Amino acid sequence: MAISPSSEPDIVRLGLLGFGNVGAAFVQLVVQQADTIESRTGIRLEVARVGVRNLSDSRQKQLVQGVMSTDVQALVADPDVDLIVEVMGGIDPARDLITYALKNGKPVVTANKTLLSQFGAELFAVSDSCGVDLLFEAAVAGGIPFVRALRESLRGEPIRRVMGIVNGTTNYILTKMTEDGAQYADALAEAQQLGFAETDPTADVEGHDAAAKAAIIASIAFGAHVVAADVYCEGISSITAADISIAHRLGYVVKLLAIAEQAAGSQDVAVRVHPAMVPITHPLASVRDSYNAVFIEGDAVGSLMFYGRGAGGMPTASAVLGDVIDAAVNLRKGTHADIGTFTQVSIKAIADISSQYLLGFDVADKPGVLHAITGVFARHGVSIRQAEQEGIGEDARLVFITHAARESDVQNCLREFGELDAVKKSLGFIRVIGE
Ligand code: HSE
Repeated sequence: MAISPSSEPDIVRLGLLGFGNVGAAFVQLVVQQADTIESRTGIRLEVARVGVRNLSDSRQKQLVQGVMSTDVQALVADPDVDLIVEVMGGIDPARDLITYALKNGKPVVTANKTLLSQFGAELFAVSDSCGVDLLFEAAVAGGIPFVRALRESLRGEPIRRVMGIVNGTTNYILTKMTEDGAQYADALAEAQQLGFAETDPTADVEGHDAAAKAAIIASIAFGAHVVAADVYCEGISSITAADISIAHRLGYVVKLLAIAEQAAGSQDVAVRVHPAMVPITHPLASVRDSYNAVFIEGDAVGSLMFYGRGAGGMPTASAVLGDVIDAAVNLRKGTHADIGTFTQVSIKAIADISSQYLLGFDVADKPGVLHAITGVFARHGVSIRQAEQEGIGEDARLVFITHAARESDVQNCLREFGELDAVKKSLGFIRVIGE
């Protein structure tokens, strides 16, 4: 509904919930871009009210002098607020506030991955029944605009797999381990010093942050009801410098991937987060430092990759503002985006997925050992694609990469390898992106 430049601007008043890094960056960006947005849409955005949990914590308060309060319920109910922007995070009170706003006809833009990965289906149903927008581009991979691409441009695409590097902290740590030969603990300490990693880094390094994002990705890629608890999750804290160096020697880099898959004709969805060996020729291998990327594979479109900043105030605010403009235009047109329905699906157990695997062992270097090991693989129907042996004194280090195999078969092999006298130490396994 663009109006001519001579018309009076149509003001849409925003109620901002949360004023941390993203909230403050959002206010700056709205002020900076207001004229451009008005000239392109006829709508002038104004931050009318800002709600925070605690007034004394707020940085850059001068930006929102006079409009800040801790009464977040009053903010959402205020008739002078047309549209809610939620960047406070967490479940409570965000869930209730968003529900209240939608039920009262106010569109909501949220960056809240924790909330959507647990209560997304409930909130989207409220948004749909009320005919009001609930947009969430910034909830996954911050400034990278791939949610809208999945929801709109790729809506007719038979998507088979989405693989994302969606956690900047772990990508930074793995990059330091790969490029500088750093040990995990040293790379983590450096990430903490630089402010990428939290003092308690558990949510990032154990993959929980990526798992919440994986649930949202799987939901929108496959129109499926997937929550964070459905996501199989392994982090990077047990990745060693030796793993990285074996991967490197064989032409791979180790990345923490969020993977969502659905085979052609199947209703089952596989969704997981774990470290994986990515061939150095794969576009995801070039995603370094704290950058994020999302790689989408579809039957019709082929491969697509979206790359950029997955966190940080301004990149995330950019994604939030894009949604706010859409929601404001829709509000004035009396329409809303159609998010579609999320059907109940079966979530594939990790034991049932198919992947290639790298397995390594230190073994006694004597006749018959290789035969015993390959016999175990053969008995469980696991086919070897690549093998190498390196002498270490009287022992040898064996490294195998399998063809695609069922994970339960590989786990059974590992159990049997543990029972062989010749196997002195198992180096475990890493899943490999390949066939
Ligand atoms: N802690 C996340 C990261 C950003 O390191 O990418 C917020 O999801």
